[in-house]
Amino acid sequence: MNHLTIVDHPLVQHKLSVMRRTSTPSNQFRQLLREISHLLAYEVTRDLPMTTVAIDTPVCPMDAPMLDGKKLALVSILRAGNGLLDGVLELIPSARVGFVGLYRDEETLQPVQYYFKVPEGMDERVVIAVDPMLATGNSSVAAIDLLKKAGATNIKFLCLLAAPEGVARMKEAHPDVQIVTASLDEKLDEKGYIVPGLGDAGDRMFGTK
Ligand code: URA
Repeated sequence: MNHLTIVDHPLVQHKLSVMRRTSTPSNQFRQLLREISHLLAYEVTRDLPMTTVAIDTPVCPMDAPMLDGKKLALVSILRAGNGLLDGVLELIPSARVGFVGLYRDEETLQPVQYYFKVPEGMDERVVIAVDPMLATGNSSVAAIDLLKKAGATNIKFLCLLAAPEGVARMKEAHPDVQIVTASLDEKLDEKGYIVPGLGDAGDRMFGTK
């Protein structure tokens, strides 16, 4: 398993460049995020377990390939994760959905959980955690800690942009978790923003500041 997969596809890269532009308004940003999330979902589900099922086509019987096992779980890391979640769910409408809410304690700077709700049977599902920005990796690592505590053993992490610092932190804490992203950017700035990045993903999505 590759720990980091960069989806270096012309459509993904073009759409991402438009999203990065300061002048791109929220409605277009959300639409592009939805379109990119379909393409990223295609890549993150590439090695889902398959089985064959006997079916009849109008011409003849056949053993047709179908997804195997329990329905997968998509877990949105609030709040920006919801932007990716919507598009991924359009591609995998039968997936079960969970949410993890974390905020940063201003004194300790550590992520604190304020919401956690995931489907039952996490140990039997492929789990895809979604968050557009893998920056320091602190909240992503904490979210995956919680998913593992809930029983998940087969976890993938889907993001739009990743910083090298966040990828390194995830690799150290969760080497078993594959990261799929549209871009590995250059670095973090002193405020923890991804450079060149696209700013605050939640603000860009929801028009807040
Ligand atoms: N979260 C964001 O929304 N943007 C960044 O650049 C880093 C973290």
